[in-house]
Amino acid sequence: MARITLRTLKKKKERGEKITMVSTYDYLSARFCEEVGIDSILVGDSLGMVFQGLDTTLPVTLDEMIYHTKAVCRGAPNTFVIVDMPFLSYQVSLEEAVRNCGRVLKETGAQAVKLEGGEEIAELVYRLHSIGIPVVGHIGYTPQSVHSFGGPKVFGKEGEEAERLKRSFKALENAGAFMIVLESVHWQVAKELTETSDAITVGIGAGRYCDGQVLVFHDIVGLYEEIKPRFVRRYVEGAKIFKEALRKFKIDVEEGSFPSEEESYGA
Ligand code: KIV
Repeated sequence: MARITLRTLKKKKERGEKITMVSTYDYLSARFCEEVGIDSILVGDSLGMVFQGLDTTLPVTLDEMIYHTKAVCRGAPNTFVIVDMPFLSYQVSLEEAVRNCGRVLKETGAQAVKLEGGEEIAELVYRLHSIGIPVVGHIGYTPQSVHSFGGPKVFGKEGEEAERLKRSFKALENAGAFMIVLESVHWQVAKELTETSDAITVGIGAGRYCDGQVLVFHDIVGLYEEIKPRFVRRYVEGAKIFKEALRKFKIDVEEGSFPSEEESYGA
């Protein structure tokens, strides 16, 4: 399989071909993604909730993101890997942000970084773009701002909020972001932004007209049972299947039918 690059993704947009992205955090799931031809893996800071069991993404550290990204890159060496920059790794100063984003690319093998925010991070996006670090933007509902939003929310199609969203999109695109994630955005706004820009749009809860779609691996395979937002489609009830296997293992060990002779050495 030829390595997927930024150029591959841009060509897909030009040709009107949909882009697939999965947010995941480990070697094996990354391998599965690559084996079935997923275009891009986002090592999302959602790992704070899904992998670490935290309430928000805020405590996730840069070292943790780098650790998970290395594992993902080993599992999916030909897939386009994007790293979510965690909270406070890029907001304090331009200098610190550039150093942290550069460190991520130097140490992991990933090809791009993702930053949450709009106009307020445009200067940083421009700086990263100008030194050769591909940037993915993320607007709409941005989980690192969960406390200022007061919880998850949906961005509507009208009013000042929708206008601000459009301004943010244009600011990121003009600063050089080649891809922008739209989270929990009214489908009509996402459609307009997709059709009027060269930047690739990737939706999560933003309707079908985006250039691509992203979901979290654990949601796709039904492992994360706690929350199921409207935009999630579970393709298999993984948690039920796994628990059933564990129940059977427990029974087999307890009643002595595991291991059998064939499963033992020296038989
Ligand atoms: O952290 C994450 O997994 C994300 C995606 C869901 C867009 O930001």
